[in-house]
Amino acid sequence: MNELVVVMIMSIIRMRLKLKMLMMMVCLVWVEVVVCGDEHEIQCIQREREALLQFKAALFDDYGMLSSWTTPHCCQWKGIRCSNLTRHVLMLDLHGEIHDDEYAYNSYEISRSLNSGSYLSGEIHKSLMELQQLYYFNLTSNSFYNTHIPEFLGSLTNLISLDLSFCGFEGKIPTHFGSLSHLKYLNLAGNFHLEASIIPPQLGNLSQLQHLDLRYNSFEGKIPSQLGNLSKLQYLDLSYNSFEGNIPSQLGNLSNLQELYLGGNIYGGDVALKIYDGAS
Ligand SMILES: *[C@@H]1O[C@H](CO)[C@@H](O)[C@H](O)[C@H]1NC(C)=O
Ligand SMILES: *[C@@H]1O[C@H](CO)[C@@H](O)[C@H](O)[C@H]1NC(C)=O
Ligand SMILES: *[C@@H]1O[C@H](CO)[C@@H](O)[C@H](O)[C@H]1NC(C)=O
Ligand SMILES: *[C@@H]1O[C@H](CO)[C@@H](O)[C@H](O)[C@H]1NC(C)=O
Repeated sequence: MNELVVVMIMSIIRMRLKLKMLMMMVCLVWVEVVVCGDEHEIQCIQREREALLQFKAALFDDYGMLSSWTTPHCCQWKGIRCSNLTRHVLMLDLHGEIHDDEYAYNSYEISRSLNSGSYLSGEIHKSLMELQQLYYFNLTSNSFYNTHIPEFLGSLTNLISLDLSFCGFEGKIPTHFGSLSHLKYLNLAGNFHLEASIIPPQLGNLSQLQHLDLRYNSFEGKIPSQLGNLSKLQYLDLSYNSFEGNIPSQLGNLSNLQELYLGGNIYGGDVALKIYDGAS
């Protein structure tokens, strides 16, 4: 009798153990599906997701450009690319669609064309500093009138490509941009009220720069000779500013230059530029 009871109890325990193991296996499968999800969905880093949400919260997004920015996986959000390996956010493409045809390059036309297209406005929150691996940032054709180019962008030292053109920024190019030592592409065109009286000489530190577009701004004074230090430069557009004086002879040292635009300024003195010819 006693033996029977023991056997029965043992088998109940065994059954429960089996059930428990089965439950655990089901649980494991469930965890894998829910937590790891589709293996093609890269999970984003929580701190970067929070930074992006903070950045979004400081913006006015009247056209729902960031409407996908709600789900857990920020790497799937519109405009964002993450690394497959490290999961860090690498690219941020948030270009707006203000029409920037050549005839609209004055404030009246721009404010008129603001009525069509879609764009972001508001504040560019410094929470973006969290995205330390970011190498591509495109903010072109949005509406940041009456705001300055954020200085903190100069601390995103992995940036290779920075496009802040046609955003309505005013003020100066932050001297902090001189720290962007990997930068190959910089576009600040069409911000109209961007002045500096000078371009900060620190831009001469951008030793990797290949493309520099500063057209349609309000830069005054002499073209800084430090631009002659950008030895990798292939494209330089300084047209439609208020530069005056001589074109610095140092520009003649830009031996990789393929395109140079200087029109729409007032130059004096000797305009003839001796272009360094690597072949001779
Ligand atoms: C990352 O994953 C995407 C989608 O699976 C793929 O197209 C891309 O080539 C991958 N990139 C790298 C660097 O592995
Ligand atoms: C930024 O986006 C605009 C619009 O798509 C594009 O024309 C431009 O080439 C982009 N800039 C860079 C540096 O990729
Ligand atoms: C530019 O190069 C000259 C030499 O060609 C050097 O004396 C000067 O310090 C450099 N300036 C910057 C800002 O790197
Ligand atoms: C151009 O570069 C050469 C060689 O680096 C240097 O000797 C010369 O001073 C530079 N010229 C100008 C105008 O900066």
